[in-house]
Amino acid sequence: MATRNIAVIVGSLRKASFTRKVAHSLIELAPAGLDMQIVELRELPLYNEDEDTATPPAAFTAFRDRIRAADGILFCTPEYNRSVPAALKNAIDVGSRPYGKAAWAGKPCAIVSVSPGAMGGFGANHHLRQMLPFLNMPTMPAEVYVGGVAAKFEGERLVDESTRAFFQGFVNNFAAWVERHAA
Ligand code: FNR
Repeated sequence: MATRNIAVIVGSLRKASFTRKVAHSLIELAPAGLDMQIVELRELPLYNEDEDTATPPAAFTAFRDRIRAADGILFCTPEYNRSVPAALKNAIDVGSRPYGKAAWAGKPCAIVSVSPGAMGGFGANHHLRQMLPFLNMPTMPAEVYVGGVAAKFEGERLVDESTRAFFQGFVNNFAAWVERHAA
């Protein structure tokens, strides 16, 4: 079976982000044949259609190329005001243009939302779930909400064993989802 390259998008820019810790835990649990790497959003300027000319900002081109090269996308997002953080929305917007040539198109994907709160980023998860079909992305139906995240880690280490088992099952299912929808 070919190795599938997965772009992992982390919706938090915070250094000590819990969402990033969750993403790293999922990456560690990736089965053979799934190569998962975080694609950073920090350098992406805010999308401005005026600048998206025949020679767009270099950061836009680099990001779009990186997404185009991926076989699948894993979105890991915190929740900001019951939606996705602006950094993630901006990345989705950047990758969605030029019109008709979205880098996201056809990429199988899954959503993991994360919060220290009890609801696990439900609002962010579903706002994202609303965007992805518009971008023609086969979105894994499984709903993954990681609530109470602060208690699941000691430093960088995932210490909640039931969460680890759940993550393992999820990432295995995601690998199968990517395989099923592979171009
Ligand atoms: C939050 N937070 C938050 N949490 C939540 O469960 N629902 C929400 O709607 C919000 N809204 C919100 C808005 C803004 C502007 C901030 C900065 C934070 C709290 C959030 O879950 C918490 O800061 C997480 O730790 C953010 O994720 P990372 O950075 O740890 O990955």
